Amino acid sequence: MRKTAQLPSHSASIENPFTPSFGEIPLFMAGRNDFISRMSRALDRSGRAPELTTLVSGARGTGKTALLGYVAEMSERHGWISVGVSALPGLLEEVLAVARRKASRVLGDHDGPRLTGLGVGGLLNAEWELPSQNAPTWRTAMEDLLDLLAAHDLGLLITVDEVSPQVDEMVTLAATYQHFVIERRRIALIMAGLPYNVDELAGHKSISFLRRAQRERLGRIPHFEIEDAWRRTIAESGRFVSDDATSLAVTAIDGFPFMLQLVGYRAWDCHPREAEVSYADVARGTDMARHEMYSRVLESTYRELSEGDLAFLRAMLPDRDESSMANIAERMGKSRAYAGTYRKRMLRQGIIGERRRGYVGFDLPLFGEFLAQKDADGGLT
Ligand SMILES: Nc1ncnc2c1ncn2[C@@H]1O[C@H](COP(=O)(O)OP(=O)(O)OP(=O)(O)O)[C@@H](O)[C@H]1O
Ligand SMILES: [Mg+2]
Repeated sequence: MRKTAQLPSHSASIENPFTPSFGEIPLFMAGRNDFISRMSRALDRSGRAPELTTLVSGARGTGKTALLGYVAEMSERHGWISVGVSALPGLLEEVLAVARRKASRVLGDHDGPRLTGLGVGGLLNAEWELPSQNAPTWRTAMEDLLDLLAAHDLGLLITVDEVSPQVDEMVTLAATYQHFVIERRRIALIMAGLPYNVDELAGHKSISFLRRAQRERLGRIPHFEIEDAWRRTIAESGRFVSDDATSLAVTAIDGFPFMLQLVGYRAWDCHPREAEVSYADVARGTDMARHEMYSRVLESTYRELSEGDLAFLRAMLPDRDESSMANIAERMGKSRAYAGTYRKRMLRQGIIGERRRGYVGFDLPLFGEFLAQKDADGGLT
């Protein structure tokens, strides 16, 4: 690690280490350690660990895509091939095509998709005909590929992002995967999406086994873990930040990964040639980050909400940290049962979280403030 204090000011600027774009794996993952270490053990085990089938859910910007990418990279160091796709039409073909491409790369095929008798590291021999020539269905094509991988002690990790039960192929993928699991193949499936999409997929009647999949709900990250990632990202990239500036940042970030990257990126860029990311830089970065949060996360979330959803959320605005369901129902002028329906919807979108029995609070940072401002601006629809 570089000694930050020795960096001369007015030297060349150091490249900004923050990653404020969607899906990018951060330099330091804040939190998520528990999941990552469980996953790492699961990938190493010879038997089947439950983590190998995981559903990851969380609101926008909570780090679903970054986590999938992180686990995919990690898996390749543990003897797996990873294939990452989004839940869009054509996903089955894509899984097969990417898996074949990676398999041939890893197994040392220099001759297109056909692998015949090629030695890998002088030890292994692979006999592989292009599966589609012999295999009429996706399942059998995948089986051929999995057989080949198994012969080389390789597992196959499939990650599916942005899951949606509306994509039929998603259901086919999950249903076929279940057969592979029953056949005791070395295969893993990690899917990620917004909470309501993940819930709906898990509730799909033809793939009910997903209800028993491991669930990983990405919420806010505790402040101490945000602080640790913030400090390390800056220090290990060669600059210095004071305790005061750090606590200003951590308060503004409020446990939200995307905000960590935004605040850091903007603060860093204020004076990239200075040795220190100063308090003033962080104050300025925080302001800019807030605006970007509005346009890049909160607006799109807001546009997906119904009038009933908005009425529920507005009824939370008079409270500071948490709102009781009794108060919300009263402010909505509706019954507890009616308010309860919207509570469920908002919990599933990751916009609110349960604080204690009968109490909810905003989980999507800045959303309350954003909504109040929208209403003040007259943007009610
Ligand atoms: N654990 C983390 N620690 C630090 N930064 C993170 C972490 N997870 C994600 N990020 C950063 O947060 C931002 C958002 O992450 P990501 O795109 O993975 O979110 P998402 O949940 O997939 O959002 P969306 O629902 O919009 O697809 C990215 O800039 C990423 O680098
Ligand atoms: Mg994403």
